[in-house]
Amino acid sequence: MTKGKLIFTRDNEYYTPKYVVDAFGKFDYDPATVPEKAAEFGIPNFDTEETDGLKRDWTQFKRIWINPPFTRKHEFIAKAWETYQQAKNEIYVLVPIEFLTTLRFQDATGGGTVFLPRGRIQFESGLGKTASGVSFGTVIVKMSDTYGLELITFKKENKNGTLRGI
Ligand SMILES: C[S@@+](CC[C@H](N)C(=O)[O-])C[C@H]1O[C@@H](n2cnc3c(N)ncnc32)[C@H](O)[C@@H]1O
Repeated sequence: MTKGKLIFTRDNEYYTPKYVVDAFGKFDYDPATVPEKAAEFGIPNFDTEETDGLKRDWTQFKRIWINPPFTRKHEFIAKAWETYQQAKNEIYVLVPIEFLTTLRFQDATGGGTVFLPRGRIQFESGLGKTASGVSFGTVIVKMSDTYGLELITFKKENKNGTLRGI
């Protein structure tokens, strides 16, 4: 897939920078990841494409981080909402902002707190590789029975080790 300057060699293999996940606290499960990112985020339970997170019962976990594979985001969103309805656990899902405007998203969910980043998140286009630019905006939605919006400023270290907003 090509979006502007950003080229993903595989649509599903783009990763969240650690400072984004850290801003939401510690998680105990990621249903869609690779072992390297689960280790980097300190998430003890996880699934990969091989083990298939969609087959697992998510109600046993307290705090779930999801940056779903692009090609299967509808299935992950639907399961996130169903799980939240059953367990009322804390589930955070990162999605392209445009996705929020679709009936498919709105029909699959019944509410959510939308965290709107101050500036765009720069994803990693492969393990350890930072993409040079992003051409779409993303938000993080926390499953909730009501709707809400919060602006969030992430802090990340620049090359000199100093913290700044993105
Ligand atoms: C957008 S990446 C996000 C990775 C990581 N969670 C993060 O936030 O950086 C989505 C990951 O889900 C994996 N994946 C694809 N299908 C999956 C499935 N059915 N179950 C679990 N993981 C899957 C992909 O291989 C990819 O590594």
